[in-house]
Amino acid sequence: METIERYMEIANEAIASTRIDKAPERLYEPINYTMKLGGKRLRPTLMMMSCEAFGCHYSMCLNQAVGLEYFHNFTLLHDDVMDNADMRRGMPTVHRKWDVNTAILSGDTMLTLAGQMIVEKKHGAKSRRLVELFNRTAIEVYEGQQYDMDFETRTDVSVDEYINMIRLKTSVLFGCACKMGAIVAGARVADQNSIYDFALNLGLAFQLQDDYLDVYGDPATFGKAIGGDILNAKRTFMLISAYNAANDAQKAELNRLLAIDNPERNAEKIEGVTRLYNELGIPAICRAEIERYSNLAVRSLDKIAFDRDDRKKFIELVNMLIKRDR
Ligand code: IPE
Ligand code: IPE
Ligand code: MG
Ligand code: MG
Ligand code: MG
Repeated sequence: METIERYMEIANEAIASTRIDKAPERLYEPINYTMKLGGKRLRPTLMMMSCEAFGCHYSMCLNQAVGLEYFHNFTLLHDDVMDNADMRRGMPTVHRKWDVNTAILSGDTMLTLAGQMIVEKKHGAKSRRLVELFNRTAIEVYEGQQYDMDFETRTDVSVDEYINMIRLKTSVLFGCACKMGAIVAGARVADQNSIYDFALNLGLAFQLQDDYLDVYGDPATFGKAIGGDILNAKRTFMLISAYNAANDAQKAELNRLLAIDNPERNAEKIEGVTRLYNELGIPAICRAEIERYSNLAVRSLDKIAFDRDDRKKFIELVNMLIKRDR
């Protein structure tokens, strides 16, 4: 296996080679802009690591890895429209730099390009399994995104519902990445499923951390505006936990703040909710939950008869992701 940093570089190089110099420029330029802005390249990294852990060279899944990164970036274009987000990876989002129609159509194109890369011939009989997994995963991501939107206007969302929502919108794509690597490598079905479980738990820890950084991150390193989830009244684990821990006065204060719907008072809304989180000890509760899911992820690896060093590398990735600040 290569180092994690090396897989990220390999993904970046492969992605750079997919730059599209074609007309209409207005369709392709936002795609090139998005793909060039970087990002952690986690999904390709997970796929290549899994492929190699099961005994196959990473180059065998590189097209699928890049395809999945295109898919991920397509979801970000549309997600930023849905979340009304101005900034991503430290730069203006596509719908702000261009417009919403551009984000829709360039996003659609990225989704189709992703499908083309994933179906790629080299894998013969395995291609069908890759495509089926991809299609199932994509639909789950859309389901998760719909729950995420539905929950903005619901006040009775439970922690279980939240976990199911983030499993769909985020974790299944991590699972898909690992399982695709395993399929390409010809791993046993039991191993394919174990690595999928690993990635599901990792994805839950990852999205909890994303939600945490949305409140407590530094915009300069996180690359996204802080407080977007609060402005949208996203039912995150933190908000649900805050309601569960709050007394009547604190609940009333949360309700009052979340009802603010005036861009000029955004700062007041974000600061007020963050202050209540701090009063209620939410950061520690959230950190503990991240820790719990990352431990579950590590435990899922026990079922796989890995090479010791490969196992260590997956654990290194888990630790990297839960300590990340971007
Ligand atoms: C952002 O994903 C969307 C979430 C699932 C939280 P990443 O944090 O992996 O985004 P990039 O690709 O590194 O920018
Ligand atoms: C995003 O969740 C999940 C998908 C894009 C499918 P978020 O809305 O929290 O992601 P960010 O924070 O905008 O990256
Ligand atoms: Mg979102
Ligand atoms: Mg978002
Ligand atoms: Mg987020």
